[in-house]
Amino acid sequence: MYPIWEGLFVHSAMYVAIIATFHVLASHLTVAGAWFNLYIERRAVRENRPELYEYLKRSALGLMVFSYVFGAMSGVGIWQSTTAANPRGISTLIHNFVFYWGSEWYMFLIDVIGIIAYYYTIGRVSKETHLRLAWILALGGSGTLSLIVGILSFKLTPGAWLENGLSLAGFYNPTFWPQWLMRFAFMFVITGGWSLIIATGIPRGYFEREKIIRYAGGIGLIGLVIGVCLWLFWYEPTLPIHARTVMVSPAVVPLTYPVIITGIVAAALGLGLSLLAPQLQRRWIALILMALIQAAIFGAERVREVIRKPDIISGYMSSNQLLFNDLPARGIASEEANLKRDGMMGNLPFMPSPGRLSTNTKIANPQLEIGRTLVTQQCSACHNVSLQTEIRVVNRRFVLRSLADLLVARQRTTAAEIDVYIKAIQGFPYMHEMVGTDAERAAMAIYLEHFITQTYDNQATTISQR
Ligand code: HEC
Repeated sequence: MYPIWEGLFVHSAMYVAIIATFHVLASHLTVAGAWFNLYIERRAVRENRPELYEYLKRSALGLMVFSYVFGAMSGVGIWQSTTAANPRGISTLIHNFVFYWGSEWYMFLIDVIGIIAYYYTIGRVSKETHLRLAWILALGGSGTLSLIVGILSFKLTPGAWLENGLSLAGFYNPTFWPQWLMRFAFMFVITGGWSLIIATGIPRGYFEREKIIRYAGGIGLIGLVIGVCLWLFWYEPTLPIHARTVMVSPAVVPLTYPVIITGIVAAALGLGLSLLAPQLQRRWIALILMALIQAAIFGAERVREVIRKPDIISGYMSSNQLLFNDLPARGIASEEANLKRDGMMGNLPFMPSPGRLSTNTKIANPQLEIGRTLVTQQCSACHNVSLQTEIRVVNRRFVLRSLADLLVARQRTTAAEIDVYIKAIQGFPYMHEMVGTDAERAAMAIYLEHFITQTYDNQATTISQR
């Protein structure tokens, strides 16, 4: 076990979500942008249309500055934020997939050097050589995408890995192909939006402007239709029943689906307009379209992460970073049974024993401290459990599933009532049973009663949840 990082003002899970969503936009754009540029460049070479290079130059510069720089930076941000938010989850992934990540790194190197070479050699090397660079860039980008999809989808559906512990089995897991194809399709929607931003910046009346807008609209629409079909007819049916239950539970904020649908409809309209009436397309429309697509990505990626609840690696490790199943193929044993029997405190690193807490003269109320430590360890992966992850603006609070709010809403506000309620949380599909002894649960209830008082003390606050 590692120390728990709840977050600061903003909940740790939200840091991950915000950084990761932006990274999804930038990274998918680099990959599909490379394919779209390849398509345009092939036409330029085959049909001898040098005018198309004007677009390629603008697009490559934009990609280099926007998606490669920010994409790479936010990629590092994902490592930092996920390592801080769930170190043991990341550690499991690294132990299984270190060589896959190693290969991804090489692909990434090709990508980053490739885009620089691509941009600076436009017009300086022969057309055929430059076209080869476009191929290398598109294939390198697709390589990074493939490797990361294997690792991402593993968390939701580890498949045969749970029996044989083989990393290849985890990589080619049941949702690998549908998710891979779906991402491949949807990334052309992002690229369609991006190409519209670039192409609408080319002066009006420029020979090929409208044609490129039309291509972007067409390719984006094809991606959208194929992506939605893959989602409905392949990806969703492949999901475990549990994931589909959580998908329509309160675990997903109700606003999420309208946001995703708005993104899809806006994309269909914006791209459709480009296809049918490219001369009407405007840069501001393209920018709004991109913002709505970004919001939809936020929603969709959140859903993908949430439907795995209550686990960080489905069927193996809970969001609390405890192993709850054996993995005999790797000689790994479940931790929860022992911890339930012997208690959490004193039996895991960073969970001090009650004796040590009670002899510490700086701690006024050891019981409360035990409760706080346990609630942080067991509940903070998904809930706001202290004032540290709360933002208050005038008398509105912004919190992620505050336990104070949820308990007040259920009218469980005294330690005794809370104790009884916690005992049954495994009845919800998105939560595991609390791990620890009865005495530890009682301490958690005492802390939560105290937390409710802290939250609602001396103010009339509107309950607002994020
Ligand atoms: C894996 C994520 C996760 C963990 C860990 C978790 N919860 Fe939850 N919990 C949820 C979600 C999701 C909801 C639904 C939120 C909503 O209704 O808005 C929820 C709801 C609740 C509710 C309200 C249930 C109701 O509708 O009556 C309570 C109470 C609660 N959690 C307590 C706890 C406590 C106590 C812990 C720690 C022992 C904990 N949770 C740990 C995800 C989690």
